[in-house]
Amino acid sequence: MSAAPALSGAPNDRYLGLPTQPHFEMDAAHSSRAALGKRLFFDKHLSGNGEISCATCHAPTRALSDGRSLAVGINGKRGTRNTPTLWDSAYMSSFFWDGRSVALTNQAINPLLNPREQGLRNTGQLLDSIRRSPAYRSAFSTTFGGASDSISVRNVTRALAAYEETLVAGDSPFDRYLYGHETHAMSAAAIRGFELFRGRAGCSSCHTINSRYALFTDGEFHDEGVGFGLLATKLAMAAVRVAHTPAGELDQLITSDSMVAALGRFVQTKDPHDIGKFRTPTLRNVALTAPYMHDGSISTLLQAIDFEIYYQGLHSKRPLILTPNERSDILAFLDELTSPAASNLSSPSNTQRSQLVGSSSRRTGT
Ligand code: HEC
Ligand code: HEC
Repeated sequence: MSAAPALSGAPNDRYLGLPTQPHFEMDAAHSSRAALGKRLFFDKHLSGNGEISCATCHAPTRALSDGRSLAVGINGKRGTRNTPTLWDSAYMSSFFWDGRSVALTNQAINPLLNPREQGLRNTGQLLDSIRRSPAYRSAFSTTFGGASDSISVRNVTRALAAYEETLVAGDSPFDRYLYGHETHAMSAAAIRGFELFRGRAGCSSCHTINSRYALFTDGEFHDEGVGFGLLATKLAMAAVRVAHTPAGELDQLITSDSMVAALGRFVQTKDPHDIGKFRTPTLRNVALTAPYMHDGSISTLLQAIDFEIYYQGLHSKRPLILTPNERSDILAFLDELTSPAASNLSSPSNTQRSQLVGSSSRRTGT
């Protein structure tokens, strides 16, 4: 086995600023699964009306989000949550705004079967439509072994998860500045913004930055007050609906009932302290993923910063007063969190979709 690549300041190092070792070994078997997963990810046939793929909502041109407040799935059906980026999701310890899924593999089946997303009737319909394609039949059997049952739900989700695990995007100007020691990688305004972010403004207590890498999320759930006005009056009714819903149907309830969606982490834990709590989102590539927050209620990055400054003051019980210049410094800093891997795909004229799968020769070591 080859040695792990060092976290160096070399240009175009996708891992700069991220842990070198995610939860998987990037060997030939993984690359083969990822290539198959990529095909599934972009395949609109895997939907009830042949028009929606994962990439409809997780669009490469929008840093794997969709530019909408709330996701829109099959036949224009609107969901209840804002579509998060999938860049660097391999590093997350739970998935969805309320953390209701703990592994990429068990998450991947949800959108395919969700009646507001890809809208397939059941797993039978999914597997049939894959089996109809000779190209898929051969790809599944080469990737997962020759047996005719290689087209299974488990293997579909393994392939999708393997693809998602290749969506690694570090190497932003911030990473080159902090981890690559390139003192000129960020503008002076962004450097001031960075010092505020991890200093007086206290942002990095949740959007974490450590000495070796920065995920910009603590993986925890917090109440930032987003959507709370909506919730306050109808809270009890929504909590009752949750209590009466079998666990297997919660996913659909969350995507169809905006009150229930607004309860956040509570729906998973049933702990009243978790009402209105949402997982801290990563801020990597955040300049490309407007609108913001779990319900997409905030349209610009500067407004999101203002909102967070206000809530940071409430949390710390001491109002946080920042001058307009300081706020724009924080904005300049967040702008420097855009990775080349994510932004190269964001220009409409760009045709380098294939770059989405990381180089298969890359080894992430032991
Ligand atoms: C109709 C739009 C839509 C489609 C289609 C869709 N997603 Fe999503 N995706 C979302 C939304 C909205 C969320 C957040 C849902 C929530 O938090 O409740 C999400 C969340 C996720 C997450 C969790 C990310 C995180 O950081 O928590 C993953 C992973 C994901 N989707 C993968 C996929 C895959 C794989 C497919 C295709 C099989 C897919 N999505 C299809 C809208 C969509
Ligand atoms: C107590 C933890 C915590 C602190 C401190 C914090 N945030 Fe957040 N941040 C969150 C959570 C949780 C969300 C998502 C809230 C929601 O959607 O309901 C969020 C959302 C955001 C978003 C929107 C991201 C997106 O993709 O929608 C931005 C931008 C942001 N925070 C910036 C900041 C800045 C700047 C600071 C410092 C002034 C800060 N945050 C301090 C927890 C925190």
